[in-house]
Amino acid sequence: MICIKGGNIIDGISNEPYRGDILIEKNKVMKIGRSLDINFPNSVVIDAAGLYVLPGLIDMHCHLREPGHEYKEDIASGTRSAAAGGFTSIACMANTNPPIDNGGMVNFIKTRAKENGVVKVYPIATVTKGMKGKTITEIGELYKAGAVALSDDGRPVEDSNVLKLAIQYSKMFNMPIINHCEDLNLVNDGVMNEGYMSTILGLKGINRAAEEIGIARDIIMAKHYGASIHIAHVSTMGGVELIRQAKREGIPITCETAPHYFSATDEWVDGYDANTKVNPPLRTADDVEAIKEGLRDGTIDAIATDHAPHHRDEKNIEYNIAAFGISGLETAFSLGYTNLVEKGILSLSGLVQKMSSTPANILGIEGGKLGEGSAADITIVDLNSEYIIDTRKFYSKGKNNPFHGKKVKGKILYTIVDGSIVYAHSKIYEGSIDGRVDLLDR
Ligand code: DOR
Repeated sequence: MICIKGGNIIDGISNEPYRGDILIEKNKVMKIGRSLDINFPNSVVIDAAGLYVLPGLIDMHCHLREPGHEYKEDIASGTRSAAAGGFTSIACMANTNPPIDNGGMVNFIKTRAKENGVVKVYPIATVTKGMKGKTITEIGELYKAGAVALSDDGRPVEDSNVLKLAIQYSKMFNMPIINHCEDLNLVNDGVMNEGYMSTILGLKGINRAAEEIGIARDIIMAKHYGASIHIAHVSTMGGVELIRQAKREGIPITCETAPHYFSATDEWVDGYDANTKVNPPLRTADDVEAIKEGLRDGTIDAIATDHAPHHRDEKNIEYNIAAFGISGLETAFSLGYTNLVEKGILSLSGLVQKMSSTPANILGIEGGKLGEGSAADITIVDLNSEYIIDTRKFYSKGKNNPFHGKKVKGKILYTIVDGSIVYAHSKIYEGSIDGRVDLLDR
């Protein structure tokens, strides 16, 4: 048994945090309340006075790279990185090698996650076979095997007729299609946002139009085919406005952004640090403001990490040929807290909603709430703790993160998955911790 005593609880049900205790037995929250009589002998007590106790964070979009690119990340390292970032559940993208495009592959991910993972892993499968954009996958088989969504992320589904078929099948299983919205002809080998900075730096730009055209097409598809399309990693002012308008018209779409799109601009590319190279690219200050406004007014439903770990040999090279992506699981919460909550854009409950209950709802998975009987997936954070991001301390194999050296606030102290403490005070723990007092030093 674990007692979490005297923390400020955000339960994902009531809006305001309250001071209280949580009793965990086995893998469930047994009791939760303002002042419980929970002096059970032999229970592990976490003194949470001054700390915030949250429903475990849920990342609906990350890349674990297994199978095929284990030199960048694997399920063992990626789930440890997730635990260190406060995530108790993650949904992993299908652009592995081979891609997750059949039931056997979905089962492979689930099995590997059981064997080697420390958080819950939900596989996302591809929309098209081999991610080639031509033929849709066997969606019923993928659903039965346990895929929670469909996505060719890394690439858009360019052929609208293929997307139409995918929508029609996925609707039967209530599976969202997570689309990477990008007009590839406009991208045309661009490596950063097109604008003043790309001109100054002499790098080929990607116009915002590439994203906006992709989003507009998907909105039109959702309007006519009644799909539940979820738009991945929104980065542009125009994209936010299109989605706002579509939602006003009642078109069934949802969307996410990633922490780097509200925390950094294309000015960061000055210096040619390829850790700033990501797809879609970092945009301008105006876009960052629009993303924040979209988060504030509810246009943007969720915050996902788009954790995209790469090897240093793919990043410590010329900007033009470096890989796209940011290793983001271990910095997402503190960037959200520092740049959104501290700046008054979102309340803490609002941030937690976008990083926990909303992703759970979109994917149709458990989590996001702390009530009696719910899974004991819990994240405990110290909001007063300020620290400098140090990528060398990442559990992820991918150290590619442009926030290295930046000061942030809001530190993950404990991550509890199914009633087991898997992360505490910067260390990963495997298996049950019942009776382990070494975790309790603060
Ligand atoms: O920067 C990115 N990296 N964006 C994507 O959409 C894919 C990802 C990857 O797989 O590396």
